[in-house]
Amino acid sequence: MLLNSVLIEKAKPLDITLKTSDGNRLTILGDSSNHSLDNFAQDVLAGLKAEKKSLSPKYFYDQTGSELFVQITQTEEYYPTRTEKSILDDYSAQIVDKCDKVNWLVELGSGSSEKTDSLLCEFHKKRKTFNYIPIDVSDIIIDSGKKLLEKYDRLSVTGILSDYERGLSLVSKVENGAKLILFLGSSIGNFEPVEIDAFLSMIRQTLGDADFILIGFDLVKDREVLQAAYNDAQGITEAFNYNILKRINRELDGNFDIGKFEHKAFFNEKHSRIEMHLVSKENQTVTIGALNTKISFKYKETIHTENSHKFTPEMIRAYADKAELEVVETWTDPQDYFALCLLRRA
Ligand code: AVJ
Repeated sequence: MLLNSVLIEKAKPLDITLKTSDGNRLTILGDSSNHSLDNFAQDVLAGLKAEKKSLSPKYFYDQTGSELFVQITQTEEYYPTRTEKSILDDYSAQIVDKCDKVNWLVELGSGSSEKTDSLLCEFHKKRKTFNYIPIDVSDIIIDSGKKLLEKYDRLSVTGILSDYERGLSLVSKVENGAKLILFLGSSIGNFEPVEIDAFLSMIRQTLGDADFILIGFDLVKDREVLQAAYNDAQGITEAFNYNILKRINRELDGNFDIGKFEHKAFFNEKHSRIEMHLVSKENQTVTIGALNTKISFKYKETIHTENSHKFTPEMIRAYADKAELEVVETWTDPQDYFALCLLRRA
C-alpha cells in the first residue's frame, strides 16, 4: 500500500512506479474518472459561432504552445514568472515556518516544478519525510519527478496526470500531518470572477484545519508595464496567440491564414484584466473541415482568446472573505508587481 494513498483517493495507478536504489518512490497516477479529453472541436465550434467570437485560453497549450509559453516567460517584458520565482526564493523559509504541520505539498498545474524547488528544498531540510504531489496534464511530471528524487533523498513524489480541477478532487484530507496546496503563476487570473469564487469555495472544502493554500496573484500596476508584458518586442506572445489558429488548422483541418489576423493585447481597466484578441484584418471566410463549417469574419471583428486578471490586495481580501478564507500572509517583490498569498480556513 502506498503511503500516498492516504491522501489520494480514487486515482488509478498508471503502472509508473519507480523505486530508486535508496527506496524513494515515484508514483504516477492517472485520473480514473471517465472523462473524455477536453472537447477542442466542440468548444471551437461553439466559440466561433457565437455572437462575440472567443476561444478558451486552455487550448493555447499544445506542444508548440507550451514551448512558446516557456519562451514568453524568458522575455524581458514578461515579469510575472521571474518575479514570482524571486519571491519564492526569498521567502520559502518564512512560508515553511508558517505551515508548521505541513508534510504534503500539492501543486496544481506544476509543469516542470522549477519554481517549486526552493519550497521543496526548505521543506526537505525541516522535515523527516516529505511528500510532493504535482498535478498536471503534461507527462513532464514524470521526468521532473525523477529529477526531484535524485536531489532530495527523503522525498516521495506522487504525480497525478490530470487537469487540476479533477486532480484536486482526488486529494483529500491528511490524517497524519497537513497539506499545502500551491496554485502559482497567476493561473487564477484566467478565471472569471465567478469562477474564482467557485474555485476558492472548492479549495476551502478540501482544506483541513492545519492546511494552507498558497496562491500567486499578478498585481495591478502601470498600464505600460502590463501591456508590454503581453506585447513583447520579439513577438513571442503574438506567436503564442496565433498558435491557437494554427492548432485549429492542424487538428481540425482549418484554413486560417494567420497573416490575415492581428495580435492585440491591452489592459481593460474596468475589468482589471489584460485581454488578448485576434483581430481580422479584412472581411474573410474560413473553412474548418473537421467541423464541416465555414466561419465568416468582418473587417476588425475579433476572436477573444484570453483574459488575464490583475489584482489589488483589496480584491484578493474580498475574494478570500467571500470564500471564508483568511489571508495569513502576503509576500511581494520590492516593486509590488506580484503577490504570493497564504490562505487558510477562516
Ligand atoms: C499562464 C495564464 C498566467 O495570463 O500571464 C502569458 C498566460 N498569456 N502571455 C498570463 C499568458 C499571454 C499567463 N498565465
